[in-house]
Amino acid sequence: MSIIVTGASGQFGRQAAELLLKKLPASELILITRKPAALADYGARGVQVRYGDFDDPASLASAFAGGTRMLLISTDQVGGGRLRQHRNAIDAAVAAGIRQIAYTSFIGVGPDNPAVSTTEHTATEAMLRECGVAYTFLRDSQYAESIAQFALPGALATGEWMTSAAEGRIALVSRDDCVACAVAVVSSAGHDNRIYDITGPELLSYRDCAMLAAELAGKPIDYQAVSDEEKLAFFDRLGVPRRIEDGMENSPIPWPGEEMVSFERAIREGHFAIVSDHVERLTGRVPKSLREVCLENIDRLRAVC
Ligand SMILES: NC(=O)c1ccc[n+]([C@@H]2O[C@H](COP(=O)([O-])OP(=O)(O)OC[C@H]3O[C@@H](n4cnc5c(N)ncnc54)[C@H](OP(=O)(O)O)[C@@H]3O)[C@@H](O)[C@H]2O)c1
Repeated sequence: MSIIVTGASGQFGRQAAELLLKKLPASELILITRKPAALADYGARGVQVRYGDFDDPASLASAFAGGTRMLLISTDQVGGGRLRQHRNAIDAAVAAGIRQIAYTSFIGVGPDNPAVSTTEHTATEAMLRECGVAYTFLRDSQYAESIAQFALPGALATGEWMTSAAEGRIALVSRDDCVACAVAVVSSAGHDNRIYDITGPELLSYRDCAMLAAELAGKPIDYQAVSDEEKLAFFDRLGVPRRIEDGMENSPIPWPGEEMVSFERAIREGHFAIVSDHVERLTGRVPKSLREVCLENIDRLRAVC
């Protein structure tokens, strides 16, 4: 059995490769990336590292050849060509005879969710349901690391957190736990056509997150609940493009303004207020709390105070 991991040079992909190498021989792992040189260390360990770019469908037939199961890591082109990229990957996986595709989706996806990023996940899930290959949806919640490593240091540095998420709640999950679940579903049987909600242990509002950071770092944060329009105007002032097609090259934040505001609206409206025991069921361990992830990043949190 050969397991394919796409987008393998990213953070998720590298962590998944490391965990998979603890479970199966290197010769059964195939890593797909646009940058094979970045994964030369895996090649040296006996892993097959192959070039593959979802924007270049012709590259995918040879990239996916011989694969049995695939971990399809969603690309980072939110609001851009992500859906077309996923379509190309799924078509090539079907043509290559892959028998299971595990996809990194997002919590709370569905037609009513206003978040731009979930729209693409909803559509990708639909493609997978229809493609004829067994699917496994890994509906990851928001990474706790994105809060501990970016949002909270920013809030501590300025002393304020302005958000249109208001008092909406989400069960932030560590990327480590998401990766462990992904590895579990591609390295063991019994996950065909299953949907997992990969969440942290508790629902938290961003206000709860701010209070935790203030406690751990010893500096207060002024939590300001604002409207979507006020938050979009804030991103405009920072010079963040509203849409990906406006060009992200010079953006101080890697995500477009409308995507981020729609995400906070979805939190506010309760679309992500889901907590499950699927991490524990898949990995045998309880998911990390935000407090644990913040403590892993405590130097970064204290450095900005
Ligand atoms: N749940 C959350 O809170 C959350 C947060 C951030 C991101 N995500 C999603 O989870 C994914 C993995 O997260 P991460 O932290 O590992 O992100 P990351 O380090 O930024 O990795 C992004 C990945 O997308 C792949 N990619 C981009 N364009 C591609 C293309 N044209 N063809 C094939 N692959 C392409 C890259 O693969 P190569 O460079 O190796 O080709 C890279 O591995 C992200 O892409 C995003 O969809 C979820």
